[in-house]
Amino acid sequence: MPKPIVIAPSILSADFARLGDEVNSIDAAGADWIHCDVMDGHFVPNISFGPDVIKAVRSRTTKIFDVHLMIAPVDQYLEAFAKAGADIITVHAEAGPHLDRSLQAIRGLGKKAGVTICPATSEQVLLHVLDRVDLILVMTVNPGFGGQSFIRSQLDKIRCIRGMIGERSIRLEVDGGVNVETAAQVVAAGADTIVAGSAVFRGGTEEAYRANISAIRGAAEAGRRC
Ligand code: DX5
Ligand code: ZN
Repeated sequence: MPKPIVIAPSILSADFARLGDEVNSIDAAGADWIHCDVMDGHFVPNISFGPDVIKAVRSRTTKIFDVHLMIAPVDQYLEAFAKAGADIITVHAEAGPHLDRSLQAIRGLGKKAGVTICPATSEQVLLHVLDRVDLILVMTVNPGFGGQSFIRSQLDKIRCIRGMIGERSIRLEVDGGVNVETAAQVVAAGADTIVAGSAVFRGGTEEAYRANISAIRGAAEAGRRC
């Protein structure tokens, strides 16, 4: 039985000068989860925010904080993000040599564990950690920035990973360049959880966010019927 579609707006595309209000707005506009893109300027060529910012906006919503760590090394920061209010903590398979240990550590902190891979990384790296994760995140852009173009070659990877998941209760999330056009394609390929930054925050008002989320959700549901 496929899981319900989840729309997780990425606050990387929000107005950082009003971040708390922006979280309130996307919550009210129908976001299912809040996707928090953490970047360290080392694993990716951009710096975004750390656990203190996540802690600062935690009280603005009860929605799930889906924290995507684009940092390396990662293990020494897991507890800080867990304490800041992350519900799901997703680490890059490319961030270090001990992925299994990182995933065990996340669950040991009482949080759901996610693993993500960059466009050039094969889904084969997931083979031996399928029973350590609650979520697999497929990057459809090279991580580091919002507003990039969707990398279509990743659709085959999504299909492969959907097959690898089998009957396991693992969410398949897609992140990067997802909009009304690409949402149907990624869901048809097997995704059930969609990250969207620029496609949600376009327009800058709660009303615009509501329309954008609704349009992406509608396109994703249509992808279920393909
Ligand atoms: C990129 C981030 C994505 C990005 C999505 O490194 O992981 O979450 O913010 O932004 P859009 O949807 O604009 O590609
Ligand atoms: Zn992300």
